[in-house]
Amino acid sequence: MTREAVAIAHPNVALSKYWGKRPGEGNVPAVPSLSVTLAGLTTRTRLRWDAALPDHRFVLDGKAHERAAAPKVFAFLDLMARAQAVGASADVESRNDFPTASGLASSASGFAALALAGVRANGCDWDATRVADLARRGSASAARSLFGGFVELDGELARPVAPADHLPLVVLVCVTTESPKAVASSEGMVVTMERSPYAKAWLEDAPRIHARLREALIARDFHRVGELAEASALAMHASAIAAGVVYWNGVTIDTLAAVRSLRAAGTAAYATVDAGPHVKVLVPPGETAVALGALRGVPGIVRVIEARPGPGAAIEGGAR
Ligand code: PMV
Repeated sequence: MTREAVAIAHPNVALSKYWGKRPGEGNVPAVPSLSVTLAGLTTRTRLRWDAALPDHRFVLDGKAHERAAAPKVFAFLDLMARAQAVGASADVESRNDFPTASGLASSASGFAALALAGVRANGCDWDATRVADLARRGSASAARSLFGGFVELDGELARPVAPADHLPLVVLVCVTTESPKAVASSEGMVVTMERSPYAKAWLEDAPRIHARLREALIARDFHRVGELAEASALAMHASAIAAGVVYWNGVTIDTLAAVRSLRAAGTAAYATVDAGPHVKVLVPPGETAVALGALRGVPGIVRVIEARPGPGAAIEGGAR
């Protein structure tokens, strides 16, 4: 039985967002979400189960992290070892080919690659759905990165909705600062649910936005997908901001204004924002140059990364 595997996975950006968890175990989102997995940006993770190691070893981008410095990763490795009755510690080396402060959730691709490598290294032939169920326990958005193209996470279940070429789309990731984010998403969600006067409104509205967005995606209606994606992000942040959880900076607001100006001038550009200050602009491929020109003129945007829909997580060299 092989004890080592190398997995690759890509980040995803949610078009309809989840924000808030169901009470209890399992890290289950309170509302459904729909994302697009992005090509080109890659996490590569090598994992070896080793019964001789006293504890897990975790090296990220060449730097070793102790248990206290990466509690979520170590807790996930503990869980994975228990879930598969491995009886060994994990020796993990992971690398992102995109900067951690790029505004793309490295936790999604990170836990997706980690889960797939951990399962395959143990010789388990679990399908992507079962690996996604495991990855979700590390970071809920990671469950979606097991699949390529457009992917839904509904309760405990992640499933593909449409392949990567279903809707021609470019995601322009506008990086608005190099600093790491102040509040982790899991903490931001807890504070929002406890303190926001609009938490209930968000929990009621998000499933409706999600259902409409799913329909628009299946109908290949780019404008409607864009409108609903922007509405989802604004509603999520409005509920968070009302609890004092503010992920935006001044450049975030200026970038959102630039996207509205692009639309007023006839360009099909729409914005979404995750739990951070960066703005992801959705455009049809033919509008990329115009949108890039406008976004490069926004003072404070550090750089723009161009991404497209891409594949799900895979074992290096082929198998899933
Ligand atoms: O599951 P996490 O901790 O990566 O949080 C994801 C939160 C959002 O990106 C804002 C929403 C989403 O559905 O991805």
